[in-house]
Amino acid sequence: MTAHDLQGQVAIVTGGGSGIGRAIAASLAADGVRCALVGRRAEKLDSALGRLATPGIAIVADITDHRTHAQILDETQNTLGPVNILVHSAGIFENQPIEDTTDEVWDGILAVNLTAVMTLTRTAWPTLVSTSGQIVLISSIATTRHFEGDAAYAASKAGVDALGQVLALEGNKHGIRVITINPAQTDTDLWDDKAPPEVRARMMKSTAVGELAAALVAIDRDVDLSPIRIRPTQDPWKTGD
Ligand SMILES: NC(=O)c1ccc[n+]([C@@H]2O[C@H](COP(=O)([O-])OP(=O)(O)OC[C@H]3O[C@@H](n4cnc5c(N)ncnc54)[C@H](OP(=O)(O)O)[C@@H]3O)[C@@H](O)[C@H]2O)c1
Repeated sequence: MTAHDLQGQVAIVTGGGSGIGRAIAASLAADGVRCALVGRRAEKLDSALGRLATPGIAIVADITDHRTHAQILDETQNTLGPVNILVHSAGIFENQPIEDTTDEVWDGILAVNLTAVMTLTRTAWPTLVSTSGQIVLISSIATTRHFEGDAAYAASKAGVDALGQVLALEGNKHGIRVITINPAQTDTDLWDDKAPPEVRARMMKSTAVGELAAALVAIDRDVDLSPIRIRPTQDPWKTGD
């Protein structure tokens, strides 16, 4: 199988300032992709940007404000060129029982993890049609392995899985490929205050997911990629005793 050359391609990476998004951008940039990193915190974006092997740009935006989507697309295209790859890594994670899952919690998680994924994709769709581009959706293992307290998060990511299946069908006739990745526990800021250091030490490194994503988008375009799970070989929450 020959790898598809990514040199000179352009990517938008939401959540590119930290964790998995940052790692995906780093791996794409190592393959010559020019990345636009999107997030709310300028300092995180600038720090990530400074370590990319191929120069990119930072775009400070809250993706739940859908008015920013046209700006994200325009700024990327005007500076870097037509978008070939759209990576949705921005996401938030809360864990609480159903009785504490207020409308605000539910709406907040759905807004970032699912609704913004659809609306930003819709905004970028004509461009992705013109470039026969690729969409990378960072879903979660939470869609098939369920945990107490995950109602809003698991529902949002199950929506991402379903969205990915439909986008793949609609994108097929335009030469658009959709790749859904379902990572398990990965040591990122997402786990701040939610997992102790010894558990985090047993989680995957974000670079594993970053390298996987870059490898998948480089695979020959006549190959359809079904949802891909990636997880640590041992459950980080079990000590193995
Ligand atoms: N870590 C895991 O174990 C794991 C497992 C499965 C799936 N995932 C998924 O992986 C993705 C990345 O998470 P991560 O683990 O890398 O955690 P992370 O480091 O906290 O990354 C989340 C990113 O999303 C951005 N973000 C959040 N809300 C945003 C908004 N409204 N507008 C724009 N950007 C926003 C954050 O940047 P700002 O705060 O600066 O906006 C941050 O860079 C998420 O979709 C998560 O659900 C993670």
